[in-house]
Amino acid sequence: MKIVVVGGGYVGLVSGICFSELGHDVTLVEIDPAKVRAIREGKPPIYEAGLAELLQKHANKNLHVSQGYESVSSSEIVFIAVGTPSQPDGSANLSYIEAASISVGKSLKNNPSYCVVVVKSTVPPGTTDKIVKPAVIIASGKTEKEIGFAMNPEFLREGRAVEDFLHPDRIVIGSSDSRSGNRIGQVYQGLTAPIIRTGITSAEMIKYASNAFLATKISFSNEIGNICKNLGIDVYEVMKGVGLDTRIGPLFLNAGAGFGGSCFPKDVSALISLAKENGENPILLRSVLEVNDQQPCRMIRILERKIGTVKGKRIAVLGLAFKDNTDDIRDSRAILVIRELLQKGARVVAYDPLAIPHMREIFPDIEYFGSVAGALRGANGCLVMTEWPEFSKIDKEFDLMAEEVIVEGRRVLSRKGVEGICW
Ligand code: UGA
Repeated sequence: MKIVVVGGGYVGLVSGICFSELGHDVTLVEIDPAKVRAIREGKPPIYEAGLAELLQKHANKNLHVSQGYESVSSSEIVFIAVGTPSQPDGSANLSYIEAASISVGKSLKNNPSYCVVVVKSTVPPGTTDKIVKPAVIIASGKTEKEIGFAMNPEFLREGRAVEDFLHPDRIVIGSSDSRSGNRIGQVYQGLTAPIIRTGITSAEMIKYASNAFLATKISFSNEIGNICKNLGIDVYEVMKGVGLDTRIGPLFLNAGAGFGGSCFPKDVSALISLAKENGENPILLRSVLEVNDQQPCRMIRILERKIGTVKGKRIAVLGLAFKDNTDDIRDSRAILVIRELLQKGARVVAYDPLAIPHMREIFPDIEYFGSVAGALRGANGCLVMTEWPEFSKIDKEFDLMAEEVIVEGRRVLSRKGVEGICW
């Protein structure tokens, strides 16, 4: 099938490359010339396990990249996968979605065949019908008989996105008619996951509800963990016992420093904003964010209980990425912790296997090390912020600390005598 994916960001790039792996003829539309160059050379502009191999396999064969929208005029499906960043009030900024829809519509004028425009970006319910559809119809001068509309959310985890794409739990296709929905179904032929067919606004809501529920599981585990810690109970033992109930499930119950990243904080905020616009008071969702915002700095309080004031002391922060397997620091819990440590006058030193260049842009003046040992040498305290598997091997490096006071924000270390944030 001839597919265009608009947006060569994280979702668009992974989806486009994986569609080419499924055998389709794909064109990525991306405005950034540096990204276009990198993709043409077979080098993904982001780090994602397995992506480089697939890109090298398909680049310039059945995967092309362009700065313009010309390929829309000969395509059978156009996926819109541009960003929907948070605005200051928490709502989603839909200006990129609208601009992409207008550009797609203009190029569809010259497409002689039936084409389906599919929203893959995470958008508030109603966006496809109220913004995308009219923008495409007006710009193309065509009718809804000639263009189909649909919404097909992504459920890709950063760091594991290729695996999630090729082995999904489910594929959600929201469409207003069966013709457009059937065509999207064909794109995923070859994958074994169940396909859920819904209306367009339900598909949009499934994405928000899924992320909000996962975020809720994490904040719930953290709150239980905070209570457990006071009672001397190991929350990981508790959640193991809780998660084996098939109605609950064992995943996303890992208590710790809370959730970061480009999705959970942004999507829960957008859902809160949507609820308020519609006269609802989303008490539970607000609490999910409140628990999450307070969680990381509890680690500093534990540290202060052990070493007194952090002023003038050397504090090592291990892990800067919002989770393992990525260099992404968006909404990383480490940012909140470093900010508070600096406010309190601590000397912060940091290590991360991938994320140092990004963190340097936010905190240019703290000291960064290329090794765990470098960061720990002479430190008066250590905070572990990311669940990097390599941290489980840290052992003798802790002997380099001036005072061995370690507080873990993720349950990853194997060293004995380490205090956890909520265990
Ligand atoms: C999340 C969802 O998991 C994907 O399904 C979704 O497609 C994606 O958002 C999106 O909307 O695009 P992602 O943000 O990449 O994926 O990362 P997760 O693996 O979900 O982790 C998010 C945060 O939660 C991380 O900071 C992680 O450390 C934290 N977390 C995760 C916990 O604190 N405890 C857990 O048990 C699990």
